[in-house]
Amino acid sequence: MKEAIEQIFKELEQLKASSQKEAEEARVRFLGKKGEITALMEQFRTIAPEMKREYGQKLNQLKKEALAKIEELRASAEASVQADAPKEDLTMPGDAMPLGSRHPVSIVRQEIVDIFRKAGYNVAEGPEIEDDYHVFEALNFPPNHPAREMQDTFFVSTGHLNPLLLRTHTSSVQVRTMESQELPIRVICPGRVFRNEAISARAHCIFHQVEGLYIDKNVTFADLKQAILVFAREMFGPDTEIRMRPSYFPFTEPSAEVDVSCNICHGKGCNICKGTGWLEIMGCGMVDPNVLKASGIDPEIYSGFAFGMGVERIAMLKWQVNDLRHYFENDMRFLGEFATATEV
Ligand code: PHE
Repeated sequence: MKEAIEQIFKELEQLKASSQKEAEEARVRFLGKKGEITALMEQFRTIAPEMKREYGQKLNQLKKEALAKIEELRASAEASVQADAPKEDLTMPGDAMPLGSRHPVSIVRQEIVDIFRKAGYNVAEGPEIEDDYHVFEALNFPPNHPAREMQDTFFVSTGHLNPLLLRTHTSSVQVRTMESQELPIRVICPGRVFRNEAISARAHCIFHQVEGLYIDKNVTFADLKQAILVFAREMFGPDTEIRMRPSYFPFTEPSAEVDVSCNICHGKGCNICKGTGWLEIMGCGMVDPNVLKASGIDPEIYSGFAFGMGVERIAMLKWQVNDLRHYFENDMRFLGEFATATEV
């Protein structure tokens, strides 16, 4: 019996199982009803009482070891089954992450800026909270002149000579540029502007402008017309025509309002252009000599032109959006429409 026990100890040590099935076979072989260890246990009853103590301990130890070994085989067989199970398919496409997109106003502002940058304009920026001098006075709006009423102003402080206010146009940045830069000047001024207007489909109290200024010797109205024609064709397509209608701004003389041929009906007349075939896009003119003088530029030597447009207005025409308010409500369904245009 002693040898039999030793033999089984050895066999247990070398026992291997590569599957659950083999582990179970090993259990049956040693511990099943007719198993080798079970048989030894039965034999144990027949041995001499003085030997029982020694063999009893040995047999118990053997049984314990067999149970532990078989449990170990089971666990490792289980683990190898899991390891062999098909892994996640790493070639599967991932879950799409919802990507944001640029705001349509940003897209169009950037397009306008890029067109003028190609023509040699630099971008200039200035404060949104401005003073009366840079928004009105230096631009030839005399104090209390009714022309100030053209742009209803939000005042930040009142009661002194040069009150602070929210700029009503980015022409203020042009004034700052004339004050600080060497001539010739060729700048565009994109930015947010504020006007005290009731919010409607066509007007908002906050909107964006891009204004431009070009000052050099011998700048003429023909140069202005050409600059705007090039811009209009880049923005609305190569067949676009422009027309200019006389207008009035305190800071330009002569002044004009610019229309482009309707890019929807190509001049035939539709509800976007209200049957006229033309869409208004900006104001412009030759810089008034008083404006040049106010910034220390000699109007006898230099001349220049200026123009200004609303970014939302251009975006509305480009995408046929008929309500300005869409641009400020941040409805994801609306903003998502422009997602494909984000590579601009
Ligand atoms: N500053 C004008 C506005 O906000 C636009 C403009 C700019 C007109 C330059 C003429 C020349 O309405």
